[in-house]
Amino acid sequence: MEEDKKQLLQELKEKIEKDKNLPLLESNLVFGEGNPNSFVMFIGEAPGFFEDQQKRPFVGRAGQLLNKLIEEILNLKREDVYITNIVKRRPPENRDPEEEEIKRYQPYLTEEIKIIDPQIIATLGRFSMNYFLPNAKISKDHGKIFWFKEKIVFPLYHPAAALRSLEVLRDLKLDFQKLKIVLEKFPELLEKRKKEVCFQTQKSLF
Ligand code: URA
Repeated sequence: MEEDKKQLLQELKEKIEKDKNLPLLESNLVFGEGNPNSFVMFIGEAPGFFEDQQKRPFVGRAGQLLNKLIEEILNLKREDVYITNIVKRRPPENRDPEEEEIKRYQPYLTEEIKIIDPQIIATLGRFSMNYFLPNAKISKDHGKIFWFKEKIVFPLYHPAAALRSLEVLRDLKLDFQKLKIVLEKFPELLEKRKKEVCFQTQKSLF
């Protein structure tokens, strides 16, 4: 099973490498990495300078903070989880990814999520959050549970924002504590959700 997923991820990476119609081709491809069987998948926005150099996601200062939160709060190692970005090449000067760039990389992210098939998608920053939840506001919706069929999307502040603000860092730490609970209680939460959805469907019959 793990071997199958690794093979599928390798094939997907090669497919992206071969796609010469994608935007940002002047930068290196930074594909996702980590445990393909992880229950949680962290999704950032786009690689930065160090990620482009090393061709690995979240290896700069924001990545170091992410590693620390994964280790100290989730009690996991970075290698235990899967980490990727919506846009898989660095935009020039680290500018925000454009709508068109997000759209063009979308089919590849969709496939990556399908292969990993995580229980929880933890979005890092507003671009990643708005990819799944176009109307959400990061200051209001971080640390909340949003169901997508049988998966949870769990918006988190971007760790780079937490490096600039102690208040954001405090909220990010609190959200990681919630994420730990969500991970532990996922089977119960899903059962509850299924009953609620079923209950709502029944009600709609009347
Ligand atoms: N910021 C992101 O969104 N992704 C990275 O990989 C690094 C920094």
